[in-house]
This record gives sequence, C-alpha cells and structure tokens, in this order.
Amino acid sequence: MDTPAPDVTPPHETVAQLKQALSQAQAELKTLRQAQAQERVQREKVEYDLQASRQLLQLVMDTLPEAIFWKDLNLAYLGCNQNFAEDAGRASPQEMIGKTDYDMPWKTEEAEFYRECDRRVIESNQAEFGIIEPQLNGEGEETWLETNKAPLHDSAGNVIGVLGTYQDITQRKRAEVALQVLNQALELKNTELEEALARLNHSQIQLIQREKMSALGNLMAGIAHEINNPTNFLLGNLKPAREHLADLLGLLDVYQAEYPNPGDVVEDEIEAIDLPYIRKDFPKLLDSMGEGVKRIREISNSLRIFARSDAEEQVPFDLHEGLDGTLLILKPRLKADEQRPAIDVIKHYGAIPAVSCFPGQLNQVFMNILANAIDALEEGNQGKSFAEIKAQPNRITVTTERSPCQKWTVVRIQDNGMGMTAANRAKIFDRAFTTKAVGKGTGLGLAIAHQIIVDNHGGTIEVHSTPGQGTEFILQIP
Ligand SMILES: Nc1ncnc2c1ncn2[C@@H]1O[C@H](COP(=O)(O)OP(=O)(O)OP(=O)(O)O)[C@@H](O)[C@H]1O
Ligand SMILES: [Mg+2]
Repeated sequence: MDTPAPDVTPPHETVAQLKQALSQAQAELKTLRQAQAQERVQREKVEYDLQASRQLLQLVMDTLPEAIFWKDLNLAYLGCNQNFAEDAGRASPQEMIGKTDYDMPWKTEEAEFYRECDRRVIESNQAEFGIIEPQLNGEGEETWLETNKAPLHDSAGNVIGVLGTYQDITQRKRAEVALQVLNQALELKNTELEEALARLNHSQIQLIQREKMSALGNLMAGIAHEINNPTNFLLGNLKPAREHLADLLGLLDVYQAEYPNPGDVVEDEIEAIDLPYIRKDFPKLLDSMGEGVKRIREISNSLRIFARSDAEEQVPFDLHEGLDGTLLILKPRLKADEQRPAIDVIKHYGAIPAVSCFPGQLNQVFMNILANAIDALEEGNQGKSFAEIKAQPNRITVTTERSPCQKWTVVRIQDNGMGMTAANRAKIFDRAFTTKAVGKGTGLGLAIAHQIIVDNHGGTIEVHSTPGQGTEFILQIP
C-alpha cells in the first residue's frame, strides 16, 4: 500500500526568504573577502616597508666608515654592520648573531678587555668615548681602534645591551709612532748638536785663553828679556865702581896726609862739596843702587816666570812664585790713590811642595781671581770716605797649605770686598756672566779659571761669599 509522499515543496514565500538570505550571505562573504584582500595588501605593504627600512638601515650602517655592533646583556652579538663582520673574519653580519668576543679572532686578553669595557658601560649606564685599543684583525694583523660605547635602552628606558662603534686608526697610530721615532731621532741629533756646541764653546774659551796668555806672555817675556841685559850690565859694573871709589877715597886720604894744608882754593872746594858727607854717603848710594838693581832683577825674574810659555807637558812649579809674580804685576792696582789707601795683601804661605802643572795657566787663574778681588774691593768702597776705608782696610789674604789628606795643594784667595748674592754665585762660572759695566768685564775670567783648574788640572774650585762681607775662592790642585 502506497503511502502518499510528503509534500516537500516549500511554500512560495519560504523559498523567496531563503534566496534572499543566500544572496545576503554571499554579499557578506564578498565584503569579507574584499576586506581580507585589502588587509593582505596592507600587511604586505607594511612588511615591504619594514624590510625596506631594514635594508636602508643596513645600507647606511654598511656605508659608514665605522664598524658598528650591538650586544645583549650577556654580551652576545645581536647585530653588526658589514665592516665589523669583515673585521671579525665573517662573510656577513648574520654570522655574528649569538656569538661572543671569545668566538672572534681577537686575542683572549683583547676579548676580555672589550667585555670589561662593555660591562662598565652597561652597569654605569654611561657612554664611553674615544677608547684607544689594540686588536688582532681577521688577517692576524695588529691594528689600532678608537672605540665609542653607549648603553642600549628599551622604550621604558631600561638598559638592554651595549652599542659600539669604532674606527680603524692604525694609519694614524702608525704615523704617530713614526713621528715619535722621528722625534727621538731629532732629539738625539739635538743632543749631539748641543754637545758639539759645548765642545765648540770649550775650545773657544781655550783659544781665547791661549790668545790672552800668549799675547800677555810674549809681551812680558820681551820686557823681561830687555830689562835683563842692562840690569846685568849695571850689576856687573857696581862691583868695580865700589872698588874704584875705595881707591879714590884711599888716594884722598893719602893726599890729605901728605898735604894737611892744601891752601884756600882747595879747602873752599872741600867745604863747598861737603867732602865728609860724600865720603859717608857715596858707598851707601852705591849700596842702594845695588839694592835697586837687585829688585829690578827680581821683577824681571817674576815676569819671566809669569810669562813662562806653557809646556806641552805639566812641569813642577812653585805656586808661591806664581802668586808673587801675579801680585807684582797687579801692584799698580794695589797701590794707594786719592780715593783709598793701599790694599793690604797678607800672605800665609804654608810649606807646600812644587805642583806638577801648566804654570802659565795657573798664573792666569791667580790673575783672574786676584783682579776680581780688587774689583770687588773697589766696588765695596763706593760711597765710603778715605778715612772710613782706612779704618777698615781693603784686604786680600792669600793662603797656601796642603789638604789634611795630603792629596791636594790648597790655595785660598780671600777678599773683604762687596761679596755676591747666592743667585750671582750660582752663575759666576758661566761664560759671559758679568755684573760689571760694559767694557769692564767680559765675564770670561772665572769660566776660564774653572776650565783650567777642573778640566785641565783635575782640581776643584769652590767659592764662599757673603754680600757686603767678602768672598773666598778655594782652589785645590792635585
Ligand atoms: N771676589 C769677588 N767678589 C764679588 N763678586 C765677584 C768676585 N769674583 C767674581 N765675582 C762676580 O763674578 C762675575 C764673573 O766674574 P768673571 O771674572 O768671570 O767675569 P768679570 O770679572 O765680570 O769679567 P772678566 O772676563 O773681565 O774677568 C763678576 O762679574 C762678579 O759679579
Ligand atoms: Mg774677572
């Protein structure tokens, strides 16, 4: 038995509703799809932009001459530019990510130095600029870097790592080293030049000294020689003159005995010439002439000793002869004049042996020091009257002795002149240092003396002085 089929045909209005719903859903789907497509386009654009800006950033970083890198708080590399990757011996920045300095070609102590520095920057949250550091590069060459490091922050301001940039300053450093080497070489040359100059100065002083000595010496030797002949002649004639006088006076005695009354003319003449006085005085006259001639001979001797040309080798020399000769030559300056009485010269000569030396040079030293002493006395006399000076006489004391150790012969030359300040005393042996008026002093005297005593004779020269009281020079000659 057939059951009637259910009637599935929807009523007309339901179909229409369904159709409407379908088309609505389709429309919504379409809108959704459109929105989706739009979103995808937008996302793609954002991604593209992001990539583009990353590329640009990388491009900028790769174009900069500096090497740039950044690390996280564990000091692992988060990124870098191409320069840095190459310095580290890697093909690209990607290969650096996650690595530490211990994975790099640098020496262990270099890696530790960098990390130490990174930690400091992270902990202090302070940038460090201009750090100069050495680095072994990917090719195993020693290079020099100038590095700047700064802390990296997140948007909340927390430190999340460290950013570093550096520049290879190897060329600059090499240039600096080359410059330093050059400077050193220059300094060496400078010292050599200074030494050469000192040697030149030295020989100049010696030349001046020789010149001075030889001019003075020649003059004196000439004078001494010229004086010697007539002196010997006088000395030689004094003895016969005395004998002839004795003969003549003897003859007179005989005459007077034979002719006690010679007549008025003769007696008048005897009275006019005061014969008894002549008899008494003539021998004395001859004696004093003899003394005079002896003195001239001494002077000429002293001149000869003073002028003694310098031997090539040192010779034994009696310093007392040298001092006496020098004082004799300075006698005109020691004598009294209208302004002051004579300068007292006091000699305390000790028992000293002959000194092996260059006598002419030592005489020159005595001359320079004694002449300075006279200058200092005269300067000290300024503003004092004759009587004042007489009450406190100008005095030069010359003392000779052996040193207690017997190794040295000591000569002290002391004056009670104006003395000198400590500042001047420090400079008196310098060439050309003088406190004297232009034309009066050249400032060479003591420089020469120092050279002669210290350099030429291995001795010492010392000076003590008090302003207003006087000065003492102490020479020690071995
Ligand atoms: N006895 C002294 N008392 C005080 N000052 C002195 C004495 N001797 C030297 N001086 C000081 O030392 C300086 C240098 O002396 P030095 O003999 O070298 O040169 P100078 O006498 O000035 O010139 P010169 O070349 O003619 O000798 C003098 O200008 C003087 O100031
Ligand atoms: Mg002088």
